[in-house]
Amino acid sequence: MKSVGRCCIKTLVVYDLLYGNTKTIAQAIGGAIPGEVAVRHVAQVQAGDVASADLLIVGSPTHGALPTRAVQNLLERIGSPAREDVQAATFDTRLTWGFLERWGGFAAPKMAATLREKGWTVTGAPSGFFVRGLKKGPLRHGEAERAVARAKGLLGNDE
Ligand SMILES: Cc1cc2nc3c(=O)[nH]c(=O)nc-3n(C[C@H](O)[C@H](O)[C@H](O)COP(=O)(O)O)c2cc1C
Repeated sequence: MKSVGRCCIKTLVVYDLLYGNTKTIAQAIGGAIPGEVAVRHVAQVQAGDVASADLLIVGSPTHGALPTRAVQNLLERIGSPAREDVQAATFDTRLTWGFLERWGGFAAPKMAATLREKGWTVTGAPSGFFVRGLKKGPLRHGEAERAVARAKGLLGNDE
């Protein structure tokens, strides 16, 4: 973060889930970020709630190469960032199957593109966290730890 002191950052982590793996990653990310952090299911978030966040992190399972419909709806409803120093980041959960990248890609880069179109500064590369099975997962071993490292990296304190 450029102009926001780490101690005072207000972060909103929004996630959707079908089975629970994306919530696990959202909670790992939320737990690794200092300051005031709210980790909320997308159904608990109104478009206006993002206005007070210094850092908005949006996570979704990848469904048909896209974010879930609920996440797409939220992203459609939110406006441009409230201030210039606000930043956003995105992550998804996805399968390890190699052809999926070529087939249509994943949710996180698409969420990042939508936010950029609305004028948000997206910090860090959109992240994908792997699940081992089509439905319930589970997360591949070490993915929650990788999420913690990515969260720290967003704030520039991953050394
Ligand atoms: C209907 C459906 C479509 C899916 N499509 C994709 C896909 O296009 N690419 C992918 O990597 N994973 C796909 N998956 C697997 C999800 O990525 C996986 O279920 C998800 O990461 C689990 O997250 P959750 O436990 O938070 O629901 C799909 C799963 C479902 C149920």
